[in-house]
Amino acid sequence: MIASPPLSTASFDAIRELIRAVAGIAMTPEKDELVKARLASRLRELKLSAYEEYLERVKTDRVELSNMVDVLTTNKTSFFREPQHFDYLVQTILPVWRAERRPRLIWSAGCSTGEEPYTLSMLLQAHLPTVDARILATDLSRRVLSRAKAARYPDAVIQDVPGQLRSKYLRRVPGEEVSEVTPEVRARVSFARLNLMGDWPMKGPFDLILCRNVMIYFTDDTRTTLARRYAGLLSEQAVLMIGHAESLASLDQPLRLIKPAIYARTE
Ligand SMILES: C[S@@+](CC[C@H](N)C(=O)[O-])C[C@H]1O[C@@H](n2cnc3c(N)ncnc32)[C@H](O)[C@@H]1O
Repeated sequence: MIASPPLSTASFDAIRELIRAVAGIAMTPEKDELVKARLASRLRELKLSAYEEYLERVKTDRVELSNMVDVLTTNKTSFFREPQHFDYLVQTILPVWRAERRPRLIWSAGCSTGEEPYTLSMLLQAHLPTVDARILATDLSRRVLSRAKAARYPDAVIQDVPGQLRSKYLRRVPGEEVSEVTPEVRARVSFARLNLMGDWPMKGPFDLILCRNVMIYFTDDTRTTLARRYAGLLSEQAVLMIGHAESLASLDQPLRLIKPAIYARTE
């Protein structure tokens, strides 16, 4: 294996500043080795021999800037991740939606490779098959979005789906060791590229927003701004779910904690 070139403190700081400006992600100084290792593959691909040359390149090359954000962000996700949220959905939210029977809109913000929105969609299909409930699933990364749209997952990944739902909503692709999400589950989900730092074209209101394990990488100021923006897009009874390792406590924002990692509007 070829050793990667040295990463100077100045170049590392410039990369940190860029990723903060573009994606809102605050990288701590101890991430230098990680950044160096992850960007080394981009340098090799582009046949560049120094991180300084790479920085020059991303100043003018938007595609490469997006590749850079891709390799520096964490996309870890899974079906039924943090299952307490899905228990709350089934036990508390869906009975209301079943009784009211009007169209519903959910936003999965930072959906990564699609396991989160498809988990939601499987539950809607299983519990409210005749209610028009749709999911908008967005992410900054084109790479994860194309995997999400493909809706194909290896055996190890689908083990997180409870057996009954797995046999109903995932189909083995002949000749391949992957399973595909069924068309009715896919049909409820639309994917779009959206940088949470930029403009949001959608008007809402949303009946549920999930932004889980995304804001953990952002500064307090960015998380405050986002929480306020989410609050403005939530319908009256709706909630925001964030990751259980995250918190909006101590931020000047209008949502109130009603369950671990679940926030409602204050009015
Ligand atoms: C760790 S994954 C979380 C996936 C899923 N929500 C979950 O909890 O399993 C974080 C995702 O946030 C996305 N992300 C990071 N910064 C973003 C930004 N500024 N705008 C939109 N998405 C962003 C990443 O691309 C990544 O796919």
